[in-house]
Amino acid sequence: SLVPVTGLLREAQRGHYAVGAFNCNNMEIVQAIVAAAEAEQAPVIIQASQGAIKYAGVDYIGALARLAAERANVPVALHLDHGTGFAQVMQCVRNGFTSVMIDGSKLPLPDNIALTNKVIEAVRPLGLSVEAELGKIGGTEDDISVTARDALFTDPEEAAEFVRATGVDSLAVAIGTAHGRYQGVPKLDYERLRRITARVSVPIVLHGSSGVPDEAIQEAIALGVCKVNIDTNIREAFVSAARGVLAENPGEIDPRKVLGPAREAATEVIRGKIRIFGTCGKA
Ligand code: G3H
Ligand code: 13P
Ligand code: ZN
Ligand code: NA
Repeated sequence: SLVPVTGLLREAQRGHYAVGAFNCNNMEIVQAIVAAAEAEQAPVIIQASQGAIKYAGVDYIGALARLAAERANVPVALHLDHGTGFAQVMQCVRNGFTSVMIDGSKLPLPDNIALTNKVIEAVRPLGLSVEAELGKIGGTEDDISVTARDALFTDPEEAAEFVRATGVDSLAVAIGTAHGRYQGVPKLDYERLRRITARVSVPIVLHGSSGVPDEAIQEAIALGVCKVNIDTNIREAFVSAARGVLAENPGEIDPRKVLGPAREAATEVIRGKIRIFGTCGKA
């Protein structure tokens, strides 16, 4: 059955590796995530974004992930990605999620703290862990200058205050990554990450990790990142494999012939990430 995230991240922190958190939208991607984790004998986190919930439904995602976890011979967790509010969190609880993110990063600090505390109070007794975000990670499409982005980065002192005030289980930080594809190569603020982990002992989460060079991810893990979120690179592999099938055979009408290779391509990308994160054999 689906496992809690707390233990997975605690082990990762102790072992200086990171657990991959991979976004799913459909059955094929859920299967790809679990197949990759089994092939690498790695613990894994399946996560559902707002878009995934809108597309597939929180109940379908819950059911798919539960079945996948039941069948898997590695630990599988299910996490709400960028949760928007209390009601959605409770819906995830009812559907078997073992972890939630409550993203109050757009709120003023006291409101982010209050919302995070409200969620923690409700779900911790049920065994779920809570991830919060401080600073604004945003997307590559947000079109803000480098200096403007810098101003949105996580402040280490504020991070310490936030963790003290909430006792949150893990913290997503803004240190130069962005959701989606990058134009050029992202530059991570390692010094800031160092200052954050010097003040905060909970596992740090890296969002927007698709498109970040392998060495940069590994450097961030060495500095204390314990959970790495990947979505875009899975979508790219999935759709490009499907596109390849259709380009070769424009008359193909069997979804299985299109989505089967897409699922395989997604599995390969996820396996590669798991190796970069140092999670192989940690199941
Ligand atoms: O939260 C990060 C996701 O990559 C965005 O996903 O477009 O499915 O909501 P979405
Ligand atoms: P990418 O799409 O850049 O991999 O970001 C994923 C993410 O952070 C999900 O929360
Ligand atoms: Zn994210
Ligand atoms: Na990205």
